[in-house]
Amino acid sequence: MPRIALIPGDGIGQEVIPEAVRVLNELRSDLDFVDMDLGADRYLRDGTTMPDETMSDIRDNYDAVLLGALGDPRVPSNVHARDILLGMRFQLELYINLRPVQLLDPRFCPLKDKGPEDMDFVVFRENTEGLYTGIGGQFKRGTPDEVAIEAEMNTRKGVERIIRAAFEYADEQGRESVCMSDKSNAMRHGHDLWQRTFKEVAAEYPHIRAFHLFVDVLTMEMVRAPEQFDVIVTNNLFGDIVTDLGAQLQGGIGLAASGNIHPGQVSLFEPVHGSAPTIAGQGIANPLAAILSAGMLLEFLGHADQAKAVQNAVRTTLQANQVTAELGGDLRMTQVTDALLRNLGSEL
Ligand code: IPM
Ligand code: MN
Repeated sequence: MPRIALIPGDGIGQEVIPEAVRVLNELRSDLDFVDMDLGADRYLRDGTTMPDETMSDIRDNYDAVLLGALGDPRVPSNVHARDILLGMRFQLELYINLRPVQLLDPRFCPLKDKGPEDMDFVVFRENTEGLYTGIGGQFKRGTPDEVAIEAEMNTRKGVERIIRAAFEYADEQGRESVCMSDKSNAMRHGHDLWQRTFKEVAAEYPHIRAFHLFVDVLTMEMVRAPEQFDVIVTNNLFGDIVTDLGAQLQGGIGLAASGNIHPGQVSLFEPVHGSAPTIAGQGIANPLAAILSAGMLLEFLGHADQAKAVQNAVRTTLQANQVTAELGGDLRMTQVTDALLRNLGSEL
């Protein structure tokens, strides 16, 4: 029986995760859910963010994690969010941050003369190194001579495995191209490693078109001609930035889902949105990104058909305007899930 750790976390995370679980329970009776007490409340109660035992428990005893959101105004340092989310990404080596960009409803398209057929690609964001490792330091802090160094770490192993994952995905899914994005015209060491590794791995997949864009050009091209992209692979920070741009291309952060994946090991699924403290607790949050993330979790567990059904049901729900106020509807959160479950019923 697959074991799923639930980390609702903070703010609207606590509301949307139970909605995603309703959808999972509708589709499967073999999932064993365990609630994890992690987040701002726990931190404020006993000062712990991500205990080592919990990390090992998740690593050893679970198949997947479904996380809501982390971030709370009562914890301005955000230390718990870093320890829990970045902690799991790094310590569980969830090296693929998979972020699909797919426009499900044409009315949310922010670009003139583009539609759902133009916005359908996935970003493979490297998730375990780059500028996120915290390697660096400060010298003469707080003085006029202060120096701050943030080192970007790129390992051959880390770069190769994310690039390979992107090509494998393109191969399996019948996608035509993989675009690698870096800044090798300015960053001569780390991004030269990306260049060489990309060429070597691409040569193993001659039937997939491999091309490269500098990241500044990539942001222009995502807006000018998004239809040219199938799979984009890039480093941790650039992936963070371009996937927020991607979220807007598909209708906003309320519809963006993601997976933090290590194939064959416990992996983490989460909506890209945050905890939205200003609307938390009112029952008006949009549950669809959490539900789409639950769909990605199903795909990871080997249920691609059910994942597809969830996505189709979300599409129907959006197109019928069975949505919350934030997307222009007049439903409350649980009513959106009710509608989605009905739409899912007609998918099956
Ligand atoms: C994301 C977030 C995180 C990131 C933050 C909260 C550290 O923006 O998941 O995209 O930068 O990875
Ligand atoms: Mn981000």
